[in-house]
Amino acid sequence: MEKKKKTISVIGASGAVGKEIVRLLIERRFPFKKLLLFGSSQSAGKRIFSRPVKELATLEGVDLAFFAAGNEISKEWIPKAECTCIDSSSVFRKTFPLIIPEINAHAMQGNRFASPNCVATLLLMPLFPLHQKLRAKRIILSTYQAASGAGYPMMKHLENETKACLKKRAFPPLLPFPYAFNLFPHNSELDHSGYVDEEIKIREETQIILEDNKLQISATCVRVPVLRAHSLSVNVEFAKPFSLPDIYHILSSQPGLQIFENRGKNRFPTPWDATGKEDVYCGRFRLDPTRKNTLEFWVVGDQLLKGAALNAVQIAERCMMNQPAAKK
Ligand SMILES: NC(=O)c1ccc[n+]([C@@H]2O[C@H](COP(=O)([O-])OP(=O)(O)OC[C@H]3O[C@@H](n4cnc5c(N)ncnc54)[C@H](OP(=O)(O)O)[C@@H]3O)[C@@H](O)[C@H]2O)c1
Repeated sequence: MEKKKKTISVIGASGAVGKEIVRLLIERRFPFKKLLLFGSSQSAGKRIFSRPVKELATLEGVDLAFFAAGNEISKEWIPKAECTCIDSSSVFRKTFPLIIPEINAHAMQGNRFASPNCVATLLLMPLFPLHQKLRAKRIILSTYQAASGAGYPMMKHLENETKACLKKRAFPPLLPFPYAFNLFPHNSELDHSGYVDEEIKIREETQIILEDNKLQISATCVRVPVLRAHSLSVNVEFAKPFSLPDIYHILSSQPGLQIFENRGKNRFPTPWDATGKEDVYCGRFRLDPTRKNTLEFWVVGDQLLKGAALNAVQIAERCMMNQPAAKK
């Protein structure tokens, strides 16, 4: 790795993803000279891991910036930033190289990178090695997405509404319906065909990363009252025939992925198992008896990590292998 230390900034450091980026940079001993944390005026003056958060006013002197403050901030700041930018928002995912380092580090060019949608990332961790060997043709995906996917405010809301609900107290709604003890289709915009924004992103970003626009994907995204870590039920039809031992063999050597199952005890990964874990877990592999060459399985991952913060930090680690420090 390039030895010269950099000035790094995290924009959105007080948020669910940003806080994890800061923690990972410290824990993984990312070689920074300075670590500057930015948020809105609301979090200016607070401390994250004992480091002060400032209101974002300039990126002068910064070598590498992580953007985890939503689409509007990325849209405003990335075009004028002179440093390397790694964006967790969705605005530049069709413009910048869209990177999962274990899968398509070869696509890393320039100094702007986008980290993909969290569900697309969790799906691709097992799908990529299977696609390479067996060529996926069609995917039917159902998601069970945690509150953390919508950031800190939604996590706090779920906690508080659950407590109020258990005490049979009224609680001011954040959504048009209760969240505690409930589930609902993903609360993002619908397109003309009836799919929500999240479902479309999963399809488009999976096709981009696999460089296969013929891959058919139909997703149904559901928000569930889980605090952290998303779960996915995946049905994939492949072009080539396979056996279950082939699947275990292919997946057993994929970095960042763990097969997690004990069939005798009916034990498969849950969001609690995956919370705070860097690896993506998969299990419940079975042949779909209704369709040729088709596999059913289950995936769980802490999407704040591999689906966002960890992936962004891994992109930065790859950048550092290649780039000299910026001249001051
Ligand atoms: N959550 C996930 O699982 C996930 C996965 C993949 C991608 N992403 C993307 O990551 C980004 C962050 O999501 P999140 O879940 O971490 O949201 P979040 O918990 O709501 O955090 C948002 C962050 O943005 C900051 N912010 C808001 N307005 C700002 C401003 N004007 N200037 C500077 N900072 C500002 C907030 O600061 P204050 O605390 O000061 O308000 C906070 O630090 C989003 O683009 C999201 O789409 C999230």
